[in-house]
Amino acid sequence: MTKIVMASKDALQKASELLRDGGLVAMPTETVYGLAANALDGQAVAKIYEAKGRPSFNPLIVHFARSKDVEPYALIDERAKILAHAFWPGPLTMILPRKEQSGVSELVTAGLDTIAVRVPAHPVARDLIAAAGVPLAAPSANKSGSISPTTAAHVYESLGEAVDMILAGGPSEVGLESTVIDLSGEHPAILRPGGITAEDISEVLERHVAYDLGDAGDVKSPGQLLKHYAPGIPVRLNAIDLQRGEALLAFGSTKFMGIKGGGAASSLPETQIKNLSEEGDLHEAAANLFAMLRALDRQEHSAIAVMSVPGHGLGIAINDRLKRAASSE
Ligand code: TXA
Ligand code: MG
Repeated sequence: MTKIVMASKDALQKASELLRDGGLVAMPTETVYGLAANALDGQAVAKIYEAKGRPSFNPLIVHFARSKDVEPYALIDERAKILAHAFWPGPLTMILPRKEQSGVSELVTAGLDTIAVRVPAHPVARDLIAAAGVPLAAPSANKSGSISPTTAAHVYESLGEAVDMILAGGPSEVGLESTVIDLSGEHPAILRPGGITAEDISEVLERHVAYDLGDAGDVKSPGQLLKHYAPGIPVRLNAIDLQRGEALLAFGSTKFMGIKGGGAASSLPETQIKNLSEEGDLHEAAANLFAMLRALDRQEHSAIAVMSVPGHGLGIAINDRLKRAASSE
């Protein structure tokens, strides 16, 4: 039996009951689909880790319907207020000092004294959280280590019967997980690049905020551990030509992409070539990234060759996901 249901009023009602009863519901958000459970119910949260096969040290983001609902759970300083005002609801997650006795399961925060909070923009996610009446812990709705889902069908392929219900709400508009900013210390730092860029944040906070992506080996967020977002076949970055047997993930024009030994990449069958954005638009590329990686991830291809994507603005988040997809660690 398939559990994918259009997010009607009845479906939202049913989903919120499942959540209150300790069940798992996959919900659409503007970034990627999330696997939601009641953040206050440790046993429900344990089911998330179980369904995903996720290492239990990796903490989860807690989702709220409105900014003011966050107050009982986290210490919101002036910087957090400004960012919430500018970017919520939307693809920004803030790491804040956790309030004690807030009732959030220790499994959610993985024993840390901080908590990751976000108010998503997708109307179905917001309606679901409001109907459930509790904050929802929700990682991306996929098996740990594989590509995040941007459609309800992706969720079903990855998690199948482990989910009680999958609410469908169209393809995720942003297509990349939220930007994660750490505000628990004196200097804000971006731990995961996403739909909201360092430039956007720096402008609003009127100070320079840098990325701290754990490249130097000092991992601040367990999610920075390199292997993540990975297809089952090798991924080769910055390809300027194609080996025979490889699939191509293109960006911009493929006019000058040749196949070694003869032939043009542009003449490949549709199953073997996808273009993130023919016009070179980074927003379009972000929204297409995970679905296209998935579509090309077939055993008959020796690898996925990826053309280079510019490293500015949203390109930083796209390149971060591509680097992880290509890493063999
Ligand atoms: O767009 C998103 O953020 C999606 C949708 C469903 O909201 N969710 C998502 O969750 O990507 P997840 O669990 O796949 O990623 C959460 C990230 C991980 O990298 C985790 O390590 C980090 O946030 N994180 C969570 N709590 C943290 C904390 N207290 N301190 C540092 N990092 C934290
Ligand atoms: Mg994830």
